[in-house]
Amino acid sequence: YTAQIDATDIEKGTYPHFMLKEIDEQPPVIRRIIQEYQDDHDNIKLDPEVRQAMRDTDRVYIIAAGTSYHAGLVGKQFMEKLANVPVEVHIASEFSYNMPLLSEKPLFVFISQSGETADSRSVLVRIKELGHPALTITNVPGSTLSREANYTLHLHAGPEIAVASTKAYTAQIAVLAILAVDTAKAKGLDLDFDPLQELGIVASVMESLTDQKDEFEMLAKELFAETRNAFFIGRGMDYYVVQEAALKLKEISYIQAEGFAGGELKHGTIALIEDGTPVIAINTQANVNLSIRGNVQEVAARGAKTCVVSLEGLEKDTDSFVVPQVHELLTPLVSVVPMQLLAYYAALHRDCDVDKPRNLAKSVTVE
Ligand code: G6P
Repeated sequence: YTAQIDATDIEKGTYPHFMLKEIDEQPPVIRRIIQEYQDDHDNIKLDPEVRQAMRDTDRVYIIAAGTSYHAGLVGKQFMEKLANVPVEVHIASEFSYNMPLLSEKPLFVFISQSGETADSRSVLVRIKELGHPALTITNVPGSTLSREANYTLHLHAGPEIAVASTKAYTAQIAVLAILAVDTAKAKGLDLDFDPLQELGIVASVMESLTDQKDEFEMLAKELFAETRNAFFIGRGMDYYVVQEAALKLKEISYIQAEGFAGGELKHGTIALIEDGTPVIAINTQANVNLSIRGNVQEVAARGAKTCVVSLEGLEKDTDSFVVPQVHELLTPLVSVVPMQLLAYYAALHRDCDVDKPRNLAKSVTVE
């Protein structure tokens, strides 16, 4: 495999930072994924061996680190809800010494932007010794994890330069959605969800979000200019996205941030809410709309500065931002964009080195 890299991929052009460029590249990346995974009859095109492996397994073990782990959490929902395949998601570094009981026919799915993360590789080496099959989902098909696994799915996101991952995360989720639907079809399950078509809608919505940068710049100033900490809350699918939102903010702005399940606040974290503590809620899931709104009220009553990002249809006048409708399974792809932009502008206002945050590396090749 030879990487096809365009010179424009590794230059900032008119952008002040790679991170902002890569946030903006998300709609074209999603469109490229649609193209790459579509056959001439508008059906999903996927390596038949991957399809077979997904059909044969009785349990998928997703192994990943950092942002890729957060994408894996969303992928689990897709595979369980759409394809009826049980999935466990594991942090690579934990799995090595805390291996769970494995099912009879496990399939290991490594999610890694770089394909070089040492923590993930050490798991791959272990499970190969045990004779289990592995699929790597990566942005770098010639990478170690890709070469050493049985199968590879490519993210087609183009080189990601900024240390904080953005377009790789959304590409991972898009490819996981396609994989889950393909598996469902291979198993003969009836679905009325066409991921390729729905991803087309996602790309347009992403574009409308990246067109509104001024809004997020203002919001970021209001929320994060003075603060030392911040909390993100969500339920269900949104819980996974708030974990990624908190990671983005931590990585580049050095603000202490955590993403919590809304219902868990009252079991401890709410003690940390003071006058002016920023609490950002993501609200895209109709079935938990009321409960997450309840959580927002609880923290507001204790002085928190709240910001609600809702999906169209669930909004209230007081919400800070409304994200246009997409299929409810694909909401992470659009709700994460405001979070990426908030983190970006928070870091900018605080004069942080956005693309190269202190103490972090783009790919961590030591355990
Ligand atoms: C590093 C990066 C993160 C990334 C993680 C996993 O810690 O700073 O942004 O999410 O590695 O990297 P991978 O290449 O395996 O997705």
